Amino acid sequence: MTAESLLVTERDGDILTMVLNRPQSMNALNTELMSAIESWARSMINDPARVVIIRGAGKHFCAGADLKPGDRTKPSLVQGRRDAQLGGRMLRALAEIPQVTIAAVHGAALGGGLCIPTACDFRIAADDALGGYPEVNLGMNLMWHSVGYCLRLVGPAKAKRMIMLGERLDAETLENWGLWDEVVPRADLEQRSLALAQSYAAQPPIAVQMIKETINQGSGALDRAILHMDADQNLLTAGSQDRQRAIAAFLSGDRVDYIGD
Ligand code: COA
Repeated sequence: MTAESLLVTERDGDILTMVLNRPQSMNALNTELMSAIESWARSMINDPARVVIIRGAGKHFCAGADLKPGDRTKPSLVQGRRDAQLGGRMLRALAEIPQVTIAAVHGAALGGGLCIPTACDFRIAADDALGGYPEVNLGMNLMWHSVGYCLRLVGPAKAKRMIMLGERLDAETLENWGLWDEVVPRADLEQRSLALAQSYAAQPPIAVQMIKETINQGSGALDRAILHMDADQNLLTAGSQDRQRAIAAFLSGDRVDYIGD
């Protein structure tokens, strides 16, 4: 699949919809898809759209980082750090899209698949949405600068619970916790996200985009200072036996007992 076809965009007046289009892999985020999202998000600075809707093709919004083994060549540590920073670059590019962004989420939104909606301005979920951060169960920290996005939506206690326990939480729970702004029947997701997009598109775009930037800069001011190292933490966990055993268990369907090493 080419970089172009990994993302599909549809334009309807002032509203641009971007569809994650790797449905055969549940839109799992491999290097190609993440690079395509980053480049597309950066290109939005030159786009006349006023509102962007992000959704996923197929059964789920996004199953998170691609867990299937890809290229097994071990990169140098210098290259490995840059590779590990790709998700953070992608999420920052999404958060810095000048236009209003709305995630329309159905099915699973797990790990990186939940990080993407949290980097958007608004999140509408279908009643079948299942969200969570399973990274911890794979022996990993939550990276991609996404701890801050989660924390600001649900507060410290719920963020710790979500990120430490790695539970898969239903739509109603995450709406009550403030992660989803709104939950609608699955059949209404497209229409409701379009209606919300139209409301923002009707507002004066200069003022709206400045308000977005001010709120994001203010609320996320500490992110760059604190979260720049989350990719290095991931490289640390990547070398752990717990992570190797957890990923092997995911692929084989076995249980894993973590050993703290
Ligand atoms: N990376 C790579 N492949 C993935 C994937 C991921 N994160 N998540 C799912 N897939 C693959 C499955 O291995 C399966 O592949 P196969 O058809 O070759 O066997 C296919 O997608 C369908 O998955 P399946 O589990 O049968 O679909 P489902 O609808 O029953 O469940 C999920 C979908 C997303 C709930 C489930 O696959 C899942 O929990 N995935 C792991 C999510 C995760 O832990 N992500 C965080 C990574 S940090």
